[in-house]
Amino acid sequence: MSLRILLLCHSFNSLSQRLFAELRARGHTISVELDIADSVTEEAVALAQPDLVLAPFLKRRIPASVWQRVPCFVVHPGPPGDQGPSALDWAVRDREARWGVTVLQADGEFDAGPVWAHAGFVMRPATKGSLYRREVTRAALEATLAAVERFAAGPLQGESAPGSGKDQGPSLSWGSDPRSGGASGLGWKPLMKQADRAIDWSRDGTATVLARLRCADGQPGVLDALWGQACYLGDAHEASAEAVVEFADRAPGGLLAVRDGALLRRTVDGGVWIGQARLADPPGTAPGQGHFKQAAAELFAPQAAALPQRPVPLMRPDGEWGELRYTEHGPEGARVGCLSFDFCNGAMSTDRCERLHAALRQVRERPVQVLLLSGGEGFFSNGIDLNSIEAAAHRPGDSAADASWRNIQAMDDVALAVLEMTDRLTVSVMRGNAGAGGVFLALAADQVWAHGSVVLNPHYKNMGNLYGSEYWTYLLPRRLGEAGARDLMAGRLPLLAAEAQRMGLVDACDDGPREGLEARVLARALALAGSYNRSEQLAAKQARRAADEAHCPLARYREQELARMHRNFYGFDPSYHVARHHFVHKLPHAWTPRHLAIHR
Ligand code: COA
Repeated sequence: MSLRILLLCHSFNSLSQRLFAELRARGHTISVELDIADSVTEEAVALAQPDLVLAPFLKRRIPASVWQRVPCFVVHPGPPGDQGPSALDWAVRDREARWGVTVLQADGEFDAGPVWAHAGFVMRPATKGSLYRREVTRAALEATLAAVERFAAGPLQGESAPGSGKDQGPSLSWGSDPRSGGASGLGWKPLMKQADRAIDWSRDGTATVLARLRCADGQPGVLDALWGQACYLGDAHEASAEAVVEFADRAPGGLLAVRDGALLRRTVDGGVWIGQARLADPPGTAPGQGHFKQAAAELFAPQAAALPQRPVPLMRPDGEWGELRYTEHGPEGARVGCLSFDFCNGAMSTDRCERLHAALRQVRERPVQVLLLSGGEGFFSNGIDLNSIEAAAHRPGDSAADASWRNIQAMDDVALAVLEMTDRLTVSVMRGNAGAGGVFLALAADQVWAHGSVVLNPHYKNMGNLYGSEYWTYLLPRRLGEAGARDLMAGRLPLLAAEAQRMGLVDACDDGPREGLEARVLARALALAGSYNRSEQLAAKQARRAADEAHCPLARYREQELARMHRNFYGFDPSYHVARHHFVHKLPHAWTPRHLAIHR
């Protein structure tokens, strides 16, 4: 049965987007309302007349006036019985072996209403954000689809969670006990405070330091200090023994070196690379006036300049952290190269683009028949780095417009380097989501392969009507036709990888589990490199590129796109600068965009 579902969320984040797209694909009518104020939510429910309200990502309670009127399902990132606003933070900090997601019905008590469905997963030693975007999203989808199906089927009730003391009808079979395998004491857990996350550099080993940084990943970071300035740290990676050996005599907590914009910091038994930092705001800072995250070495540029640079070669042992990596596989004549780039949050700053461009120039010398361009595990790419651009607005002698201009040129250079690789087949591999310019960058390769869990946002307009570049005016119509390209750009909706494949935006969609994706991709690439008609495919690619170039040179597409972007950056209409400022400062939404709130 098809339902009218109102998606109520703090922001239309990756999980909300995935549920939105998956439920729509199953024939339900979905409208979105951002959680702005109780009165606005009440109004949305009155307008939408939903059968069900679904809350995948909320920071406040649903008002009683709403949950008493319409069944409201809350997606809680914890197993049944777990309650509280920092569920996943605690699970990561305390290194739980298993965790889960529960869909429960909102009632007067926080996270304690009747349970409609739940799903579990094995924890991975990864950041909170990575777990959220992968395991939690997969479990949330499974539990939400089950809950919605049960709800649509008829007058069943949810069930009381273990330990809630409530008796709510017939008991569900829980399957395997969600608490087995390590969940240390469920029930109410409070908001995690900075004291719970704090690192004692003089005592904590690397494993503890990483667990603390990982549980705070994304938001809020771990409150600490760099060069005596209070700041929140994030995006941590374990350093290899080789990376710290030259600093063995340095005191724990000491800052040692710089690589890829990250700072190497000594721990009692090793070291960690810290990728991101945000200065702490003085009390009373007004919204929009505070500090925001940046690459740690960029934020502390003068101090970091005094540290030694420790770049790494593209080809190196697995345990040696760096944003870029290159590997080769297969026999001579049917060889596959894999250039992976894993940029925090998929944000491609000018520096990152330049490093990636240099890597592309380096690997194009390698004798491979297929080159995989494998984006990050979390995100393939989300386009230009809006935080780094915002920072330029506060730098004497620089401006956000100039930084935007430099960044888009650097992105275009990367796209062009891929487009110009006409002596081999190229494939973009989307292991994680992609947004805005990040999607179009992927299209610069001959083929795009995506995992089935990937959500794409192939449009720019949400960022203050940005026109976009990355040769999209060439790349998109050649896949979708002029009308298809226009519709996609104007629709501004998230797209599942399977839908993207059906419309021709993506060439292959891997429906297997996320685990093992890399091996399956490599097998597919090796088959492509060894295929009987590879030479014909390459010849066709070269002929098409030559014909396209004769019809309209790539330089002209770039020039025309950048002329529009120049207006976005330097023109009278400040929409892009306003939207970027809101995005970077995470300012609350004042209204729900109308293309999402179809009830309005
Ligand atoms: N620059 C800087 N930071 C970015 C970024 C970008 N282009 N895109 C995403 N991020 C950051 C977010 O601020 C967030 O930071 P956090 O760690 O503090 O939470 C993190 O990446 C994850 O992003 P989030 O928005 O929570 O992910 P999502 O999967 O819910 O949404 C997008 C994905 C792509 C829809 C959304 O991030 C977005 O609109 N990004 C901007 C895209 C854009 O306009 N790029 C510029 C034009 S090319």
